[in-house]
Amino acid sequence: MKQWWKESVIYQVYPRSFADSNGDGIGDLNGITEHLDYLKELGIDVIWLSPIYQSPNDDNGYDISDYRAIMKEFGTMEDFDRMLAEAHKRGIKILMDLVVNHTSDEHAWFVESRKSKDNPYRDYYIWKDGKDGKEPNNWGSNFGGSAWQYDEATDMYYLHCFSKKQPDLNWENEKVRKEVYDMMTWWCEKGIDGFRMDVINMISKDQTFPDGPVEDGLYGNHQPYVCDGPKIHEYLKEMNREVLSKYDIMTVGEALNTKIEHAMQYAGEESGELNMVFHFEHVSLGETLVGKWTNKKVPLKELKQTLNKWQTQFEGKAWNSLYWDNHDQPRVVSRFGNDSPMYRVVSAKMLATCLHMMKGTPYVFQGEELGMTNAYYDNLEDYRDIETINAYHELTENGLITEEEMMECIKNIGRDNARTPMQWDKTANAGFTTGTPWLKVNPNYLLINAEDERKDPNSVFHYYKKLIALRKEYEIIVNGRFESLMDDSEEIYAYERILGDERMLVACNFTDKEVECCLFDAVSQGKELISNYKQHKKGILRPYEARVLLYK
Ligand code: GLC
Ligand code: CA
Repeated sequence: MKQWWKESVIYQVYPRSFADSNGDGIGDLNGITEHLDYLKELGIDVIWLSPIYQSPNDDNGYDISDYRAIMKEFGTMEDFDRMLAEAHKRGIKILMDLVVNHTSDEHAWFVESRKSKDNPYRDYYIWKDGKDGKEPNNWGSNFGGSAWQYDEATDMYYLHCFSKKQPDLNWENEKVRKEVYDMMTWWCEKGIDGFRMDVINMISKDQTFPDGPVEDGLYGNHQPYVCDGPKIHEYLKEMNREVLSKYDIMTVGEALNTKIEHAMQYAGEESGELNMVFHFEHVSLGETLVGKWTNKKVPLKELKQTLNKWQTQFEGKAWNSLYWDNHDQPRVVSRFGNDSPMYRVVSAKMLATCLHMMKGTPYVFQGEELGMTNAYYDNLEDYRDIETINAYHELTENGLITEEEMMECIKNIGRDNARTPMQWDKTANAGFTTGTPWLKVNPNYLLINAEDERKDPNSVFHYYKKLIALRKEYEIIVNGRFESLMDDSEEIYAYERILGDERMLVACNFTDKEVECCLFDAVSQGKELISNYKQHKKGILRPYEARVLLYK
């Protein structure tokens, strides 16, 4: 079926780091509005806005204290309305971040809930008695420590799968669900165009709350009892009936540690739940006993097997999202490409080709279109992310990893790699702010910035622009069937897309060496849609070369 969100390219804005309009060092809504023409030039269709709601910022806005108010640092509701209108004027849609697995502990509901056991808001959250003077079970939080916080007022514990300032909502309570649907309706009535739903597959918890498997010797893993939980599909169908189905909007659910069988239902063409989900399989490869904290590179073959599985199993049944980067992931050119001066540009283009030519809706995270790199800050003091800082202390203080090793892991995988300010130009602080940025600007902004790249037809920016434009021109990019090629290669990612009698051949060299590849020699006539090299060598792909050929 033809649906606008299948033909769209989505651009994620992390407002805090995008553009600061008033010099306080923090990006804001007016900063976004000022740069809408830049996004229009790039050609994207939809902006996904990370949370802009009122928040004490324990987790940069993912801890919301009022769903119907704008965070003071980001501006006012008038600024929001203006941004929305200006975006719409340019044909750009706005996707809001919906964070309803948890709220902030400063949300009015929680302030009430913790007051007493018979408070009308008590059951809005998940409260349990302790066991033998300890937490109700062994679950660890995603941000370190126990997932339970003791609360003196009523001598009970509340559940928080993330920080203790992010208590989990109790979705078993019908009133909670109703409140959430009302709030969503309120935003839809304002004219927004959809939702990206934060950890949405965690909202239904196993009500027996069993201990989780202990993997790293500290806490039990809650994920088996929280992710893709017992009533998740029931809740999403209800949300769809009550809200989503009433508007022409799109939805993408963040599905932490989801299983493909569940993801196929969330994103199923017929299931009446969501339009698509973000799965984590390709960005979780290489995880170890200490979770994501590693400084090893992932072998290409594993990456291919993972992504190819999602491509083939979803064919004709469910719709994929395509992403390398977001505000929780390191920069893709540093992770799967090569960010050395010699190969940064060519490998960034190769990665973009590989992803954008697959089947699904592609997401671009701010700065990815410039080939921005990891931050590589040497000192913990230069990082701001609660996950990074908590993990550093927990893992080094318990002797699970040395301080030196942990710093290397943070440089490789930490979330602040994505969150350094957007690099606009060569002026102080990359043109992001006239004040002091909340997180240090990557010093490589003199070499990597939007102003230079817009002027340079061979830049990563212009390459993304072309990729986005191709999607509008060739239906095969949207609807072609996916078939993998060269499955055994450890160097080349190759596949075909097929629609009617048309075929599109895509091949990408993930290494800095010349690698044999005969795929193109077999095709006598065809049209090159895009490549990061002007000339090709027969039988060979050059370092990080990517080629896309359309033929019959
Ligand atoms: C999601 C967000 C992440 C946040 C977490 C808790 O994973 O993407 O940034 O910390 O949920 O809300
Ligand atoms: Ca500001």
